[in-house]
Amino acid sequence: MKVIAPSILSADFSRLGDEIKAVESAGADWIHADIMDGHFVPNITFGPMIVESVRRVTSLPIDVHLMIENPNDYIPAFAKVGASLISVQAEASIHLNRSVQLIRECSARPGVVLNPSTPVQTLEWIIDHVDYVLIMSVNPGFGGQAFIKNSLDKVRALRQLIQQKNLKTLIEIDGGVNEETITDIAAAGVDVFVAGSAIFGSRDYQTTINAFRQKIGA
Ligand code: DX5
Ligand code: ZN
Repeated sequence: MKVIAPSILSADFSRLGDEIKAVESAGADWIHADIMDGHFVPNITFGPMIVESVRRVTSLPIDVHLMIENPNDYIPAFAKVGASLISVQAEASIHLNRSVQLIRECSARPGVVLNPSTPVQTLEWIIDHVDYVLIMSVNPGFGGQAFIKNSLDKVRALRQLIQQKNLKTLIEIDGGVNEETITDIAAAGVDVFVAGSAIFGSRDYQTTINAFRQKIGA
């Protein structure tokens, strides 16, 4: 299964509903929502209220990426307004297993996120509790940054760990995904491709998503 998940961080927020409908009809599989608190990352975006608005205009899975401190305080609120998947940063949760348990208790699919310098080994005792692992291939906080090349080695190491443990964990990549980088990313073993500026910054969303699919063979 190969999933294309446009990140609305790069959408035109003055027309967010139209933008979401446009990427949905252009073939998006998930909608990626970047939640930032100005503490864990040097940027502030939006909260459950916006996710609730997104839920009203699409039936696609909403993939909520929490780049916030104290994520456990906000997991129920995002689940309540319709988050389908919720990922927490390994670096932001001192009780990561409890965060993952809480996401499941709130009937969302749990994921864990690794920042660029956080090793795959961090996942050793949590990977069999999550549905997906999100590999940050840029430093979190902003769209439009350059893909960090050694993320490919990290994806390969993660793919190996999943195979060793005989798991079905999905690998999601986030940051700097575009027509130039996506072929190598797919070859490294990624299942879910988050792209913000490459999609919302393009002239035609359908052409861009089709080009992505053509390059990843899906
Ligand atoms: C960055 C966010 C990413 C970002 C991706 O902190 O987590 O989802 O929106 O943006 P692009 O695809 O433009 O790198
Ligand atoms: Zn993200």
